[in-house]
Amino acid sequence: MNTIPFLNPAAQFQNLRAELLAATAAVLEGGRYILGPEVQALETEIAAFCGARHGIGVNSGSDALTLALHALGVGPGDEVITSPFTYIAPAESIHQLGARIVFADIDPRYFTIDAAEVRRRLTPRTKVILPVHLFGQGAPLAELFEFGLPVVEDTAQAIGASAGGRPLAGQGRIGCLSFYPTKNLGACGDGGMLVTSDDNLATLLRRSRVHGISQRYHHDTHGFNTRLDELQAALLRVKFRHLASWNQRRRDLAARYHAGLADLPVELPLTAPGNDHVFHVYAIQTDRRDALQTHLAERGIPTIIYYPVPLHLQRCYADYGWKVGDFPVTERVSNRILPLPMYPELTDEQVQQVIDTIRSFFA
Ligand SMILES: Cc1ncc(COP(=O)(O)O)c(C=O)c1O
Repeated sequence: MNTIPFLNPAAQFQNLRAELLAATAAVLEGGRYILGPEVQALETEIAAFCGARHGIGVNSGSDALTLALHALGVGPGDEVITSPFTYIAPAESIHQLGARIVFADIDPRYFTIDAAEVRRRLTPRTKVILPVHLFGQGAPLAELFEFGLPVVEDTAQAIGASAGGRPLAGQGRIGCLSFYPTKNLGACGDGGMLVTSDDNLATLLRRSRVHGISQRYHHDTHGFNTRLDELQAALLRVKFRHLASWNQRRRDLAARYHAGLADLPVELPLTAPGNDHVFHVYAIQTDRRDALQTHLAERGIPTIIYYPVPLHLQRCYADYGWKVGDFPVTERVSNRILPLPMYPELTDEQVQQVIDTIRSFFA
């Protein structure tokens, strides 16, 4: 039995071994390890790619979100609307700043926040809307912009995707990216970036990533320590040259899954009109999710559920008093979703093996 890893960052390293090791040696020998020329070059490249004027490299996607909200003045008494069906980072960043998390349920077709649900949750205290471009496709930005509030785009899972013909991350007031190793553009450690076309925000963000510094040992604003290091930036610059082809490979793999599973009693992921999806995750849905997951695992195809516990039901948020039934679409998806292996290094044969194994379950 050939086991298919669910994720495989080491395969990417092997394909780019010589280039990545050369980049590593150059940084180590250069002696500049934090916020140097590699970070600056990466910031320029990524900002342009996202259609923004500025890039600000930070230590993680989570820190990018916290800095973004902080720069927009989010604090106690404010509300920020986000999705309950995602990784915890966006909710956590709101909580860290002392603001109130307000969830709006998702659209069952696309897994992204439902603009009509956001509208229902708006109050005079709503300071920012924080949609997540989940699994590699855009949240309904055009509809969210109509509310006239600052939008922070959580683009951790969707670098290279677009909506309405324009790249994600560069459309809202601030876009936040993660370079966690398994992301579509992944470092060999932690990393993240903010992008914005607002010059004043960019200046503020550059300061706040280094303790609010204006000049050495002078601190005009409150800040954090969340710097991107040169090694990660150099490795990311090597990988960035391959991002477009990797994203295309993900789309091709998604098309193979689609073709191979179309006639089965499962729901396949949909792409919203006008969206270009980069399939960070390819997830199907079925009422028999747990049995299918076991069937796959027993045949060498382990999978991970994103996300088994919706954020409103996480124990750390017990004080909010949310309960089962509050966000029914999210809860239904959490119970039925099954992500399949998805990364550019996956071979056609491996995808076929996954398809055949799923087909054997429903046979
Ligand atoms: C949607 C989303 N937002 C934010 C993050 C946080 O990024 P990081 O792990 O780089 O802190 C992640 C993933 O890790 C994510 O998937």
